Amino acid sequence: MTAAKNGVAVVTGATGGMGRVLALALARRGMHVVTVARAPQRARELRDEIARDGAGSLEVIPGDLSHRAGIHAATAAIRERHDVIELLINNAGAHYGEHRLSADGIEMHVAVDYLAAYGMTVLLASQLRSGRARVVNVASDTLRDTRRLKGGGQPRPATLDIEALGDLALLNPTAGFVPFEAYARAKLLTVIAGYALARTLAGEVTVNAVHPGIVATDIIRDVMPAALRPFGGLLRRAMLTPEQGAAAALRLATDPDLDGVTGRYFVRDTDTPTPPVSYSVDVQTRLLATTDRFLESGTQSFRNG
Ligand SMILES: NC(=O)c1ccc[n+]([C@@H]2O[C@H](COP(=O)([O-])OP(=O)(O)OC[C@H]3O[C@@H](n4cnc5c(N)ncnc54)[C@H](OP(=O)(O)O)[C@@H]3O)[C@@H](O)[C@H]2O)c1
Repeated sequence: MTAAKNGVAVVTGATGGMGRVLALALARRGMHVVTVARAPQRARELRDEIARDGAGSLEVIPGDLSHRAGIHAATAAIRERHDVIELLINNAGAHYGEHRLSADGIEMHVAVDYLAAYGMTVLLASQLRSGRARVVNVASDTLRDTRRLKGGGQPRPATLDIEALGDLALLNPTAGFVPFEAYARAKLLTVIAGYALARTLAGEVTVNAVHPGIVATDIIRDVMPAALRPFGGLLRRAMLTPEQGAAAALRLATDPDLDGVTGRYFVRDTDTPTPPVSYSVDVQTRLLATTDRFLESGTQSFRNG
């Protein structure tokens, strides 16, 4: 068991972009940061940088959150080492330019941009309760508007096939697959599940989601329309830096003014409503039932709190 003077923060996706900034900032506040990394060497370089800083520390758990076994293995390793977690930032995310399936046969956006965050939260629920923790889900405002180029006209929120909620493998099917919409739908699922988790964990753990802004990180390379790629360098200069982008999640994670605030979605610092479907308790209940069943079928006993 690792002693943590200023608390334990689990931050996924700390190998680059905003996650790296978040891990550094929390460690500078003296927290013991735990991350799960597919490329542990990159995370270990960050661990060494944090160690030189002398305040907090970074613990690296090698792992891949794109499949059920990876989520179970990572959370089991964290539970083994930590009884109390004060903060979970579900920051890992990805955008895929084509239809791809995870090792479990789940479309990759659903797997990485939704299931990993949900799985981390429910499989660490007992430790989060003990820490009276905050959970911050890094979402994306594409869930409110899936248009990549916004000229005039109305926003086009992410859509959801309610029938597909009975089976995760039906979400984001090959037919009619549009990568950016698939990414947005997965982020919408994260927000929907977050609203439900905010209710079930109320009084013990807060759960909020945030859109960080348009930030010059690796994911932008995958998101940028081909027509704009020649201007990539120029466009990146107009975007937020990873430090500026991470500030919104960091505020949700640490600002004392937000004590007890839960079940909200923020566009950077602004509390913002999400598409009506996200508030449907029926939709939330169906999604959680299906996801719990999926996670449970990969283990003997999955809920630990
Ligand atoms: N940049 C933006 O404009 C923007 C806007 C809205 C929302 N967001 C969201 O912000 C979050 C952070 O993204 P970023 O912009 O900082 O992008 P990034 O630099 O690409 O970072 C993504 C992180 O997620 C990790 N990751 C991806 N797949 C993973 C997997 N299967 N298992 C474990 N870790 C995995 C990556 O690890 P590897 O090093 O192994 O790839 C990386 O550390 C994401 O959730 C993204 O959707 C970004």
